[in-house]
Amino acid sequence: MNTEQLVSTFVEYFEERGHQRIVGSTLLPPPGDTVLFTTSGMHPLTPYLEGRPHPLGRRLVNVQRCLRTTDLEEIGDATHLTVFEMLGTWSLGDYEGPLSLDRGYGLLTEGLGVDRSLLHATVYAGDSQCERDTASLQLWQERGVPVEFTVEDNWWSNGAVGPCGPDSEIFLWNGEGPPRSTPTRDERWVEVWNHVMMRHRRLDDGSLVPLPQRNIDTGLGLERLAALLQGKSSVFEGDLFDPWRRLLPPLWHLDEPSLRLVCDHLRSAVVVLGDGVRPANTGRGYVLRRLVRRVLTVLWRENPSYGLDDFPDDLVGHTLAHFRQDMPPADVRRLLLDEQRRFRLLMERGRQVLDRPRFRGPLSEEDFHYLHDTHGLPRDLITSLRRG
Ligand code: SER
Repeated sequence: MNTEQLVSTFVEYFEERGHQRIVGSTLLPPPGDTVLFTTSGMHPLTPYLEGRPHPLGRRLVNVQRCLRTTDLEEIGDATHLTVFEMLGTWSLGDYEGPLSLDRGYGLLTEGLGVDRSLLHATVYAGDSQCERDTASLQLWQERGVPVEFTVEDNWWSNGAVGPCGPDSEIFLWNGEGPPRSTPTRDERWVEVWNHVMMRHRRLDDGSLVPLPQRNIDTGLGLERLAALLQGKSSVFEGDLFDPWRRLLPPLWHLDEPSLRLVCDHLRSAVVVLGDGVRPANTGRGYVLRRLVRRVLTVLWRENPSYGLDDFPDDLVGHTLAHFRQDMPPADVRRLLLDEQRRFRLLMERGRQVLDRPRFRGPLSEEDFHYLHDTHGLPRDLITSLRRG
């Protein structure tokens, strides 16, 4: 099953069960939101989880693109991507957690053919503020799915304050041979689907109050599940990355971790540009700038003649088309090449400045500030220039 088929199977399954499809929003969160990028499917729906009636009703389904910089250091492993898509379902004060979990189980096992013996669930154990989630436990016991209890890993929030709640996560075994151990003890259990019982609001003082309605918010990582269903051990081997794996290795000879990083960051940079962000020294533009600079650092470390001039148009076009973005590929390319030019100049200047006797020994905080404020050299660039 390819990724497009997985999306339609998911959406149709929930449409047949009374959910209306909503159009996912861009990576830019609604005005007034304090985070830089949309980090989950529920993010654009926050007002409706807090009680505002949604024009399409109480049951919703969608595909939402998300960006998580918290996972940046994990890029290169089998399951994380900077920009990814989340398949999501919502019950806005309609049905409860056990029905949501049962539907999730039904779609995975019957709709998508997952072997039920490869599933494991985790359930909220309870603490002094919120009781143990016995309703989810009971559902999993009835379905014969093993359960592990946790506290922190089974509590979901989108920030220090705001809507939150206990969750139950569904894991799929991705190891050789029969499943072993539990999700917190063996990382071959891969989290695929999180069902959040979103019915609390965390206040500034840390206390919890009930939301006006009891919601369910679920999120399933599309690229991750697609790769698992395709029998691949990493997201980078799923069908979405086929063109990347075909076109990049003949141009740039990189080891597997570097190839993964380059694929992830370039794809993410294209999507971020496609959503209207431009490179800058702060905020969203700085995230974009870091993505492009990390790619260039990896490429130039391998071979100084490598560069984005060779980045194939097909990959830009493929990515923009997948995310239904209408920016002309030539504009994306031009912005990437501008950024490359700027970074090259900065590197040259940085090398000259760091060559001065004053900066040859260990650097103090004051040196870092001076290099940043006077010469525009960020700390990570200084560190990598000194290493190189
Ligand atoms: N908000 C939850 C998550 O991002 C479920 O959608 O995992």
